[in-house]
Amino acid sequence: MAAMQTASAIPGTSVFRPKSPREIRALRPDDFATLMHLEEEVFGRKGEKTLGPYYIRLCCEFFGDTCFLAEEDGRAVGYVLCMVRDREAHCTTLAVLPEAQGTRAALQLVLKLIRAPAGRIDSCWFTVKEDNHAARAIHAALGAEEVAMRDEYYGPGDRRILSRIDRAGFDRAVRRQPGLTLDQPGRRPALDAGA
Ligand SMILES: CC(C)(COP(=O)(O)OP(=O)(O)OC[C@H]1O[C@@H](n2cnc3c(N)ncnc32)[C@H](O)[C@@H]1OP(=O)(O)O)[C@@H](O)C(=O)NCCC(=O)NCCS
Repeated sequence: MAAMQTASAIPGTSVFRPKSPREIRALRPDDFATLMHLEEEVFGRKGEKTLGPYYIRLCCEFFGDTCFLAEEDGRAVGYVLCMVRDREAHCTTLAVLPEAQGTRAALQLVLKLIRAPAGRIDSCWFTVKEDNHAARAIHAALGAEEVAMRDEYYGPGDRRILSRIDRAGFDRAVRRQPGLTLDQPGRRPALDAGA
């Protein structure tokens, strides 16, 4: 797996350091504007398509039991959007603000997703573009298997890999991440060393 470049590794950039523990919580109707903003920050700035207001409104209004936000010091830094059918979770988006990437926020969001609706989810599906190596790496770190390829997924030329994490695979992945909890401050020991 390629080495991950975090903000701390880039000369001249500072590491985002929250004062209080990170909270992973259910989406609420009043998160709509925050979500639209995060979509723009994570995807829009890179010239990628962003989710539309209808879908975001739906998630905020009705799917708080399977859509979660990561907050640090009252500021949203990441989110996972997901819908569940027949004990299978279908994750449409997993995203973390660039300055908070590499701090296990994505792992915590998926941990919350898989553990929160007790007993409701047997597996979790993701779609990812072939060239999104960071996303494929995190899916692998979460114990996912790449099981199929779909063409024209979000439109002409949009080729997606379908990845599936089952509960056993996810539990194994969590055991490989010592100390991972839902409220850790969000720093890996290596990033804090010498700070
Ligand atoms: C992909 C993304 C969600 C990862 O979020 P993150 O909070 O930085 O990920 P985490 O810190 O929880 O990383 C967990 C594991 O995933 C892997 N990983 C994550 N990002 C990686 C990268 N850029 N390169 C290689 N491995 C990576 C590592 O194995 C890491 O484990 P480690 O901490 O033991 O090294 C984030 O980079 C992002 O928002 N990218 C833009 C949006 C996107 O492409 N989303 C995916 C669509 S499904």
